[in-house]
Amino acid sequence: MRTYLVTGGAGFIGSNYIHYMFRKYDGDIRIINVDCLTYAGNLENLRDIEQRDNYSFVKADICDKEAIDRIFSENDIDRVVHFAAESHVDRSIRDPEIFVRTNVLGTAVLLNAARKAWENEDGSYKEDKKFLHVSTDEVYGSLPDDDSAFFYETSPVDPHSPYSASKASSDMLVKAYIDTYRFPANITNCSNNYGPYQFPEKLIPLIINNALNGKKLPVYGDGRNVRDWLYVDDHAKAIDMVQEKGRLGERYNIGGHNEKQNIEIIKIILQTLNEMLPDSDPRKSAINESLITYVEDRKGHDRRYAIAPDKIKADTGWYPETMFKDGIRLTIKWYFEHEDWMKNVTSGDYQKYYQEMYK
Ligand code: NAD
Ligand code: TYD
Repeated sequence: MRTYLVTGGAGFIGSNYIHYMFRKYDGDIRIINVDCLTYAGNLENLRDIEQRDNYSFVKADICDKEAIDRIFSENDIDRVVHFAAESHVDRSIRDPEIFVRTNVLGTAVLLNAARKAWENEDGSYKEDKKFLHVSTDEVYGSLPDDDSAFFYETSPVDPHSPYSASKASSDMLVKAYIDTYRFPANITNCSNNYGPYQFPEKLIPLIINNALNGKKLPVYGDGRNVRDWLYVDDHAKAIDMVQEKGRLGERYNIGGHNEKQNIEIIKIILQTLNEMLPDSDPRKSAINESLITYVEDRKGHDRRYAIAPDKIKADTGWYPETMFKDGIRLTIKWYFEHEDWMKNVTSGDYQKYYQEMYK
């Protein structure tokens, strides 16, 4: 049975990936989830799978060399899927150092541990060992408004925020391991994800939550910045397909063919909420465009991201399956059905973050 080490599996994409993998492989794989449970890590995301015999959770920091080495020495790990990171651009602008620590140093610790465990004396590797580094399209910087330009795997790396700089640095480290040690790894650079379990500091869940509570909807700058939105299950599937069918050592861009301006996203959410809420729901009357509030722009705000996913399609057959109009309904339905989840994650520290961030 193949054993996966998933880092950051209690976060948004990691927990969706773990659910996806158990739906797909059920009892045929084993998953060990390593997460230190920052504000973004939440074991509630995994409640329905935590009793499985083929799942285990280890609370550890990926920067903790001893703890990570121990996981490799106590388990015969076949696959690493590395999600753990500080992931929010606005937080990186306020406090860059933790992004360097977790995203760069943490990745180095993992690479070293995997290499030590997998390398034979002659520099070759034990059979069928693979490391996948989950990264972002933000490492490529920003595209002009012109909608004919796209990010390719060959696009220059040109990060602007401390978050994207730390992710670009970790990508470079993985590339150095591939080039220097022939380390069996892939890098994936994915566009913005949305779906269940996303922490409401990110645009889509923040807008859903604020609208449902009749609160203002903060739009940075002119609201015309473009992101390429991908439903999170499509990302999980892409990661699995890269490990199954991709060429080792390669970088793959993953994207939704779904570019939208932020203001469009907000208007779609408002309209979908109104369609989905019954007339009898008292929240419905307050959900309209008067909630939209333009606020000061994000520093260094990238204008447009857009992925060309040609290479992953050619090599693995992957393509984005979920249309935005369906994905956003699934997402809103999930938030309707998980009001307690939202209450829990927005109590305590989130309130402090929100007041400070949007004051
Ligand atoms: P998230 O913030 O929701 O989750 C991050 C997880 O990592 C949390 O569970 C957290 O507890 C854990 N973590 C943080 N620091 C850790 C440490 N030092 N040791 C162990 N665990 C630690 O992030 P996400 O949105 O799920 O993103 C996951 C990965 O995907 C990140 O690497 C991110 O850069 C990348 N990515 C995200 C998006 C997106 O739209 N969210 C798009 C492309 C790529
Ligand atoms: P975000 O979800 O933070 O993702 P990223 O910065 O990684 O792309 O933001 C998505 C877009 O939405 C980005 O252009 C910034 C914008 N935005 C707002 O306009 N208002 C907000 O309150 C937030 C959180 C983001």
